[in-house]
Amino acid sequence: MKLDREIKKICCIGAGYVGGPSMAVIAHKCPEIIVNVVDINEERIASWNDPDIKALPIYEPGLAEIIAECRGKNLYFSTEIKKQISQADMIFISVNTPTKTRGIGAGKASDLKWVEASARQISEYASGFTIVVEKSTLPVRTAQTIKQILQSSNKQSKNKKFSVLSNPEFLAEGTAINDLNYPDRVLIGGEDQESIKKLIDIYLHWVPRKKIITTNLWSSELSKLLSNAFLAQRISSINSVTALCETTGADIKEVAEAIKSDHRIGKDFLDPGPGFGGSCFKKDILNLVYICDHYGLKQVSSYWEKVVDINNWQSERILNVIIEKLFGTVSDKTISILGFAFKANTNDTRESPAIKICRGLLEEGCKLKIYDPKVSSQQIEKELCMPLTEKKWSFANSIIDSVKGSDAIVVITEWQEFKDMDWESLSKKMRSPSWLFDTRSICDIEEAKNHGFNIWRIGADLNLMN
Ligand code: UDX
Ligand code: ADP
Repeated sequence: MKLDREIKKICCIGAGYVGGPSMAVIAHKCPEIIVNVVDINEERIASWNDPDIKALPIYEPGLAEIIAECRGKNLYFSTEIKKQISQADMIFISVNTPTKTRGIGAGKASDLKWVEASARQISEYASGFTIVVEKSTLPVRTAQTIKQILQSSNKQSKNKKFSVLSNPEFLAEGTAINDLNYPDRVLIGGEDQESIKKLIDIYLHWVPRKKIITTNLWSSELSKLLSNAFLAQRISSINSVTALCETTGADIKEVAEAIKSDHRIGKDFLDPGPGFGGSCFKKDILNLVYICDHYGLKQVSSYWEKVVDINNWQSERILNVIIEKLFGTVSDKTISILGFAFKANTNDTRESPAIKICRGLLEEGCKLKIYDPKVSSQQIEKELCMPLTEKKWSFANSIIDSVKGSDAIVVITEWQEFKDMDWESLSKKMRSPSWLFDTRSICDIEEAKNHGFNIWRIGADLNLMN
């Protein structure tokens, strides 16, 4: 048994938004450990290995520099799943866990088929003692499933032994490297103290001991779901008030500032917007809802479900506002969409509110010119389920390119360049009357107004306020 053996080789299954950056940071901080990231997606692995560092499959500030330093030294990307699993002392599972689209729990429960497949691969190919770490966000008690699959392999071979830990990742996209380098906490759930210690030792390379929390497996899994649910709840709370502000003359910016100054409430995650996106919030809350329903806790599940309801309502509400302000019809109008990623500093579009707003406008017969500094036209085509060749939307290479001849600008993502726009140049390129819909409350409204724009800003009725 290699229980007291040093962790020399790590394998991570899944080279995505979580696996890629988190393994890059482990490799960077632990030069004596060989980190192998494997994935079934050959194209993704090829991008991770692309000599052109700008071609990495995900955009994350600071990531390219780490990859450039570690790749080929102690960090490797490959599709050699069998080989790397068999040689690893510790295996992280970082595969996708989207919400199920059919069958029992459809629309709420996570689809664990990729986790299960990973566990089966580990059970088949691993050798000796292997620590298996859940990194992907998973429903509570998933570790049980993983354990059961691994135990079945124990029966087959006496030479295999496993210990399962939960080590959820709290990184946010766009700030992943900073979050990984300076985590608020590292959470490790498990039963086998020896294995927990091995994982703690890895983090101790750069994380102070007092920031490493150990719990049982189920507390760790639940804490991850609940952290995301709490954050999402704050966003839905502030977004629910935007509509009230728009009808009463209160300004959500002022209201948010006022409540943020109470240290008990805190200043983070209270920026109003078109609704939260990303791969985690909705999925994790729906997981929570599903598990509460499963245990007969109807009141608890309805409580959390409301957070998602408000989020859906917010993007639909904004879509309706745009149509209504543009004289009740957008048919044959052209709208410039600024931002398609679910938030700034990422090229990720999963659950982006831009998808729903754009699809709604297209259904109404509107033409769209979409610009995002990091999202490709192919990605937008995929999300809209509408090829560019249909000519209902076009891909713009810059802000100015996207506003040429358009009737309105809708700012959806809070990219820095949308905060500093040159309203004079933009107004000259647009049709009159021109509109600005600022769904993030980030634009210089006064400047835009001075250059003739009609304005709608989230959480404020500019007429009522004057
Ligand atoms: C989130 C969690 O923050 C992270 O800990 C977890 O590991 C994964 O899920 P992420 O989805 O990458 O991270 O982004 P986050 O910064 O949390 O933003 C999520 C969504 O909320 C974005 O659409 C963002 O625009 C929105 N948001 C965030 C707001 O609308 N207002 C805010 O004040 C903050
Ligand atoms: P996340 O945001 O959780 O990292 P992603 O979808 O970005 O999710 O990445 C998950 C990755 O896991 C994908 O690249 C996918 O191809 C990979 N993956 C899924 N199942 C397996 C598997 N059984 N073996 C190897 N890789 C897998």
